Amino acid sequence: MNKILLSGVKPTGQAHIGNYFGAMKQFVDLQNSGNYECHLFIADYHALNLIQDKEEMKKLTLELALDYLAIGLDPKKSIIFKQSDISAHTELAWIFDTIVTMPYLMRAHAFKDAEAKDKEINVGTFNYPVLMAADILLYNTDVVPVGADQKQHVEYARDIALKFNHIFKTETFKLPTDLIMKDVAIVPGTDGRKMSKSYNNIIPLFATREQITKAVMSIVTDSGGPESGGIPANVYAIHKLFKTEAELKPIYEANKGRYKTLKDALVEDIDAFIKPMRERREKFAKNPKKVIKILEKGAKQAKKIADKKLIEVKKTIGVI
Ligand code: ADP
Ligand code: TRP
Repeated sequence: MNKILLSGVKPTGQAHIGNYFGAMKQFVDLQNSGNYECHLFIADYHALNLIQDKEEMKKLTLELALDYLAIGLDPKKSIIFKQSDISAHTELAWIFDTIVTMPYLMRAHAFKDAEAKDKEINVGTFNYPVLMAADILLYNTDVVPVGADQKQHVEYARDIALKFNHIFKTETFKLPTDLIMKDVAIVPGTDGRKMSKSYNNIIPLFATREQITKAVMSIVTDSGGPESGGIPANVYAIHKLFKTEAELKPIYEANKGRYKTLKDALVEDIDAFIKPMRERREKFAKNPKKVIKILEKGAKQAKKIADKKLIEVKKTIGVI
């Protein structure tokens, strides 16, 4: 029998190649492998911790739906939906809230990071892993493809499943595992740190040629000292995503110290890679009604599964 796969992305801004290679590409590869029943959603309620503007929320949600379709997610093969359309997610999150302790949630990396930056953290940010556990566990998920930074959240989902099963002496929840691609676990940004919207160091996933050029030219290169051997580490690290090392080695050997030439080659390779996806996205963008229909159809399919699970849970805890 096929394994059940589930993952989500928050609609919080422009997708970048870090999101793509770290997470989204796997969605497509796994969908097309034919070995999984895929559930891929837009985590708009998670995004609400950050996006608190009606127009912005609508815009970013549609944008992410376009991204999903442009990279090759196919509503005929995958259930594609919006988290907020399925109220079972928030309902189950509440049930989990009653068995999860505060000290346990305080150990979450994301919470600690948020706390280090700002003491006024909203409850939604604190509770983030609980809603994510509900997202995952409602669908009897086996595998959760995510970037390396989400590993801990999947562990939370496992722990919460175990705890629920233990307290209520049941086997209601299956234990999910993460699926992280080792090679591209963390995609570096133009400044060498992890590529992230919050660091302003991204290469947008659907960038135009001009945007690609601008981003690549801004990649920080070392001074070309003897330790670098004339190979700009940050350029190479990004280039590796688009060509094999066997292909890259001779190019970098032949152009040691010629950073402009190497960056031009990188622009060329990124553009060739992005172009077909960019064009597919433009096509869908012309027909937003169709995109909304796809999400509505996905919601219907997801709701059937989620509601069934929620009824099972409600029976288990004794409210029905
Ligand atoms: P950002 O850091 O830009 O805000 P998100 O937190 O929205 O990105 O991440 C969305 C998904 O993309 C997650 O699964 C995350 O693990 C993955 N991801 C984000 N940035 C990277 C990166 N630089 N390398 C690998 N995966 C990433
Ligand atoms: N927390 C994930 C992120 O920041 C998004 C997400 C929400 C998710 N719910 C999920 C990912 C469930 C996988 C499964 O990228």
